[in-house]
Amino acid sequence: MIVLGIESSCDETAAAVVGPGPEGRTVVLSDVIHSQAIHLQYGGVVPELASRSHAEQVIPTARAALAQAGIDRPDAVAATAGPGLLGAVLVGLCFAKALAVGWKLPFVGVNHLEGHLLSPLLEEPGPRWPFLALVVSGGHTTLYLARGLGDYPVLASTVDDAAGEAFDKVSRLLGRGYPGGPIIDGLASKAQGDRYELPRPMVRERTQLRAVHDWSFSGLKTAVRTLLENQPDAAEADVARAFQEAVVDVLIDRVLAAVQSTGVREVALSGGVAANSRLRQRLQELDAQGRLRLTLPPRSRCTDNGAMIAHVGRLRLLAGQTDPLSLPARPQWTPGT
Ligand code: KG4
Ligand code: ZN
Repeated sequence: MIVLGIESSCDETAAAVVGPGPEGRTVVLSDVIHSQAIHLQYGGVVPELASRSHAEQVIPTARAALAQAGIDRPDAVAATAGPGLLGAVLVGLCFAKALAVGWKLPFVGVNHLEGHLLSPLLEEPGPRWPFLALVVSGGHTTLYLARGLGDYPVLASTVDDAAGEAFDKVSRLLGRGYPGGPIIDGLASKAQGDRYELPRPMVRERTQLRAVHDWSFSGLKTAVRTLLENQPDAAEADVARAFQEAVVDVLIDRVLAAVQSTGVREVALSGGVAANSRLRQRLQELDAQGRLRLTLPPRSRCTDNGAMIAHVGRLRLLAGQTDPLSLPARPQWTPGT
């Protein structure tokens, strides 16, 4: 089963082809991404501009993915159906449905977060089920217990800003650009030392069902703002480092709490913030200490891509699932629901 996947939920137009690999695995045959540079001048994603750019880029991107995979047409088509910017999602979704109609192929609508949370399975050897999936992106910060396809109880999530959003806002506070994650990451690597101390916000679990505490990142962002107001000459690399250390600390705190409460030691990281050097380093250290078993996809697979969408589409098709062409876009959508 060879699947073409289309992703257009935010500011990347992406298309990829996946197919069968050894031992029932899925392999990526091509993975093409067009990142929209137009938003840089606005300091964040402008939804209408994103939709227009997707409309221009989706056909050449899909063509390139098919050409690089060396195929004329796939066996099925998958596309992100949400969550994300509604207008942006609709471009890729409608395009994928049109391909499915024209080519008389099965169609699957994929949850973008499910794409991220299952993307570590594309790695060799990848996590074994059940695994703890930490999805840290610009719009979401959630720790799932991945028990099987479509079965992802939430163990912890943010009650306010997503971790990536906090990186983006702190970059703006420092007078820097968007996306903030790579900028803060780079600044922090030049820090002289631990000159500033920022809080580690902890929020109690909201329901009995949750195994660990939730996150909160908006207070941390406010703490950075206060620090900069009180110390206008603060060294920005050291502020970036203090902020990054605080984010990484609380992310790892919940992962370790979940390892303890569930007894599951398999941990898989995904989402844009999974590209963060310090987060990767700290988790690798915990893996080396034997406290967890980590699957860490390469940075290109952490940020938005088409392969993760094609992958989930393929898994669902192999499980006998397809979606009707009437499937709506879902701007809000919890994976597995
Ligand atoms: O998953 P993604 O590409 O898009 C969403 O679905 O949100 O994640 C984008 C987010 C942005 O907030 C960006 O600042 C953050 O990922 N990010 C990083 C790094 N690279 C990207 N955050 C921290 N460190 C990085 N190196
Ligand atoms: Zn994403």
